[in-house]
Amino acid sequence: MKQSFFIKTYGCQMNVYDSEKIVELMTSGGYRQSSNPEESDIAIFNTCHIREKAAEKLYSDLGRISKYKENKIKSGSSMKIIVTGCVAQAEGDEIKKRNKSVDLIFGPQNYQNITDALEGKNEKYVYSDFLCADKFESLPIRNSHEISRLVTIQEGCDKFCSFCVVPYTRGAEFSRPVEGIFLEVKKLVEMGAKEVILLGQNVSSYNSNVFEDGIRVSVKLSKLCNLISNITGLERIRYLTSHPNDIENDLINEHYTNKKLMPFLHLPIQSGSDKILKRMNRNHSRNDYMNLVRNIKSKINNMAFSSDFIVGYPGETDHDFNQTIDLIEHVGFASSYSFKYSPRPGTQSSLKHPNVVNDNVSDLRLKKIQEILNKQQSEFNLKFIDKNEEVLFTDKGKKDNQFVGRTKYLQPVHVLCNRNIIGKKLEVNLESLTSFSFHGKIVN
Ligand code: SAH
Ligand code: SF4
Ligand code: F3S
Repeated sequence: MKQSFFIKTYGCQMNVYDSEKIVELMTSGGYRQSSNPEESDIAIFNTCHIREKAAEKLYSDLGRISKYKENKIKSGSSMKIIVTGCVAQAEGDEIKKRNKSVDLIFGPQNYQNITDALEGKNEKYVYSDFLCADKFESLPIRNSHEISRLVTIQEGCDKFCSFCVVPYTRGAEFSRPVEGIFLEVKKLVEMGAKEVILLGQNVSSYNSNVFEDGIRVSVKLSKLCNLISNITGLERIRYLTSHPNDIENDLINEHYTNKKLMPFLHLPIQSGSDKILKRMNRNHSRNDYMNLVRNIKSKINNMAFSSDFIVGYPGETDHDFNQTIDLIEHVGFASSYSFKYSPRPGTQSSLKHPNVVNDNVSDLRLKKIQEILNKQQSEFNLKFIDKNEEVLFTDKGKKDNQFVGRTKYLQPVHVLCNRNIIGKKLEVNLESLTSFSFHGKIVN
């Protein structure tokens, strides 16, 4: 009987992509995926270290799973507990010190070793080398007919924003070779994908090369999007996450000419205060950001933006916070994420604590920013009512004959239809809006 494994994924889409690869590695190695942690022979936790809450979630889950493990051992069977991901990289051996029932620990670039380690081919139990190239070369592609698929094209970050753990958990920036990405996207399209989301911590600084007419030419994100848009059957290309300092004219021009590239840009700014941006080591000002948005909009008038914000960064005054609100009101975002600052071990901002913002103040700021961002999202959405939009259908809905898809701007749309439209890109009249999702009628 095959051993079963359970996997839980925390954190960003890069972890979701990694978990897909781990699942494929395990299933092709003869293990069977199970949705029940209690009954599985192996429990894998693919973790996130970005904020304290994310990391602490692991330890509460480990507490629960180690009870299951104890019961299994008492009844004469066994269980292996594996921690992967960014907490594994950041804390390594410490994880085992906090919870002795953990058997194996793998940082984000070591998953190719999981099955060998399970088979006892190695003595060590902590795998935390930075081996990006090995990882991409050796992990299989998950077999699935999903319409929208993730593809990591770049991993790691050299930017060292003062609050962020990513440069420590994912290592230095590494761009995957073009050929591997192209073949992966082609394979996904052959399996049925119509959309790919190219992933990277700083996808806009992607930098690789290819041979053209016998010489090596550089391939940036713009050219990569151009190359993969030649794949027949692929309808939409998105990428995530961009850094304002890396968006150059070639990418804006690619958006203008490449109709497969969606007019939606996730462009985190974190704060609208120049003082805080400087302390965060973001290396751009609020004006740089606003000029960039203006420049992009002047060339691509239907481009929509989303962003990430941190409130309560050390030293953030009411004035700084109001600068952020002011920026939000000037730019106008289609949707955004906002977070309360969380000091992370090893980061620059966690070392010194000048003027730590009172927790209650941060909570109030978070509430306020979220209200404003939600209001903007609603206003953005309301402009689409009674309009026709192109929707790519990806899933069945909860009701009979209901299907769910997304507009170019990632807005969810529900329609009723008596034929299967999954994988189809159709023109839909957006009739009504409930919370943040539309109900519509197919018009062709
Ligand atoms: N590479 C992306 C984002 C990576 S992390 C970028 O450059 O923007 C995703 C988001 O988590 C960040 O944009 C930031 O808003 C938030 N974040 C990162 N570290 C954080 C911290 N210490 N406290 C609170 N939020 C944080
Ligand atoms: Fe973190 Fe900054 Fe790198 Fe984004 S750019 S991953 S926020 S260090
Ligand atoms: Fe979290 Fe690591 Fe992603 S810290 S946000 S899982 S890169």
